Amino acid sequence: MVIAPDAFRRALGHFATGVTVVTTCDSDGRPTGLTASAFSSVSLDPPLVLVCVDHKAQSYPALLERGRFAVNVLRRDQEMVSRRFASTRLDKFDGVPFRMSALSLPLIDEALMQLECVTVSTHLEGDHTILVGRVEHTHVGSGEPLIYYRGQYDRLSGTNS
Ligand SMILES: Cc1cc2nc3c(=O)[nH]c(=O)nc-3n(C[C@H](O)[C@H](O)[C@H](O)COP(=O)(O)O)c2cc1C
Repeated sequence: MVIAPDAFRRALGHFATGVTVVTTCDSDGRPTGLTASAFSSVSLDPPLVLVCVDHKAQSYPALLERGRFAVNVLRRDQEMVSRRFASTRLDKFDGVPFRMSALSLPLIDEALMQLECVTVSTHLEGDHTILVGRVEHTHVGSGEPLIYYRGQYDRLSGTNS
């Protein structure tokens, strides 16, 4: 029995997540990236994380070929950044402040946390590829996270920051 895609998506939407923008550069050195909530820690020693990327994403070839990527965890006031990187427009970085790291990875300004990763393995599963990255650098900011739940953006209701 195969679950209908809509029912599957609706069910998964009940898992509240943070929101990341996964970035890299293409072969011409142009920054590219996409909004991704399929992010997880994998291992503490060595420090590994994973992201799952749709094969249809325009940023997918660059993410695969570049062999490194950054994970930018968005702050609660960065919903527009998430929306922008969840689109297929080619000028996603226009008007979004970022800097290039020492590893030549685009790091989005004001993100809650940024990880710079070197890809150690890739796993094709269904219509996505799991990229496993070894974390080379971490950058931690302050503030509260942007939350995604049941297809909507949200924020923590508590007062911790
Ligand atoms: C909150 C949110 C989470 C998303 N998570 C993922 C994800 O984990 N993996 C993925 O491939 N696409 C994910 N997407 C969809 C991509 O951001 C979207 O398909 C985007 O257009 C891809 O950009 P690109 O084609 O320019 O690479 C998510 C979208 C949103 C709004």
